[in-house]
Amino acid sequence: MDSGDKWRERRKILTPAFHFNILRNFYTILVENTEKFVHQIDMETTKEKSDIFDLVTDFTLKSLCETAMGTKLDDETSEFGRTYKNAIHDLGNIVLHRAQRVWMYPTFMFSLTKFGRTQKKLLDLISSFRDRVVKKRRDDSINVKNIHFNDNEDDFVIYGKKRLAMLDLLLEAEKNGTINMQGVNEEVDTFMFEGHDTTATALQFTFMILANHQEIQDKIVEECNAIVSAEKMPTMNDLSQMKYLDCCIKESLRMFPPVFFISRKIDESVILSTYECPPGSEIHIMIRELHHVCKQFENPFDFRPERFMKEPTWHQYAYIPFSAGPRNCIGQKFAMMEMKLALSTVLRRYKVLAVTKPEDISYLADFILRSKDPVYVKFERRFT
Ligand code: HEM
Repeated sequence: MDSGDKWRERRKILTPAFHFNILRNFYTILVENTEKFVHQIDMETTKEKSDIFDLVTDFTLKSLCETAMGTKLDDETSEFGRTYKNAIHDLGNIVLHRAQRVWMYPTFMFSLTKFGRTQKKLLDLISSFRDRVVKKRRDDSINVKNIHFNDNEDDFVIYGKKRLAMLDLLLEAEKNGTINMQGVNEEVDTFMFEGHDTTATALQFTFMILANHQEIQDKIVEECNAIVSAEKMPTMNDLSQMKYLDCCIKESLRMFPPVFFISRKIDESVILSTYECPPGSEIHIMIRELHHVCKQFENPFDFRPERFMKEPTWHQYAYIPFSAGPRNCIGQKFAMMEMKLALSTVLRRYKVLAVTKPEDISYLADFILRSKDPVYVKFERRFT
């Protein structure tokens, strides 16, 4: 089976996890985690400034652990949960460190270095956490029986009170023989890596840019208050009506795309301007640069959510924060839902004030758009 076939089969198994009915199932989990997130932010109001990334990563990782693996990080002995979170973070740093040092590319050489040894320890830790969670879920047979699939993906039903996790779909596929144990593990890891850091990065930059544009923040709050009363959490339907907030997130993803480049190995030759890239070449698509092309976006360095209020004036592939085509981001609806819920809830209760300015940020070379220094904002209660 070539990697294309493997991807196609896995994508087919996972697509139902992001169907509207399933997202509805995850919504309750997101609401609970958003409430905890708001509680944490409330404790930040006494501080002069808050490192926003720490707060949002905690929120997105907890939300994803519960929706993807069906486990609460809080429920795991908190020490194990915290170690897992840190291990995911540290592993990202090591992968990057290695990618920048050609002599570490051969596995044998890398395994002899301090980084190689640390990576092994981190991978063991991540795998043992994941194995424990998967085993618990696999043993819980009632849970798997509760999902009933029909051929038509629009038509599957979930019985019982137990909450569904993305992992349950993989375990069902394992029972049907379409994926093996290693496949289940690989897909769980992919979710954990693709799902939490990207959304945390998007939230970090969105909070920062909104803190620097009070008038835009006020418009969001006005829109949200007209849709949902102050003490209530928004429903999924409420979120779909928050059009201006939607535009603000899209504009933030344009200026600060968390996945700022994607790579492809081409199997046909591609002509770029006057240069012909032969088959077998690796091509990098620089999403952040693409999102700042003046011919496509007027004043591309200005934060202007209004540009998303009308029909796009840009080429359909000039704006691709979630990539495009069949290999695009499978979790984009989930991510938008999570971000809208978190932003609308926080902004209705807290004013976010600028500390870090966009022009202060120096970016790091990484797989995800990262700021070299912490990004700070200040939270202030709207009601006392
Ligand atoms: C703002 C948040 C997010 C951004 C900007 C983002 C962006 C992307 C991009 C650009 C790709 C394509 C990568 C490539 O072509 O090489 C991708 C793929 C993927 N994303 Fe996301 N993502 C986000 C959130 C999520 C979430 C929340 C999940 C899961 C819950 C997720 C799961 C995945 C998976 C599984 C893939 C691989 C899809 C495939 O190959 O079929 N992402 N994402």
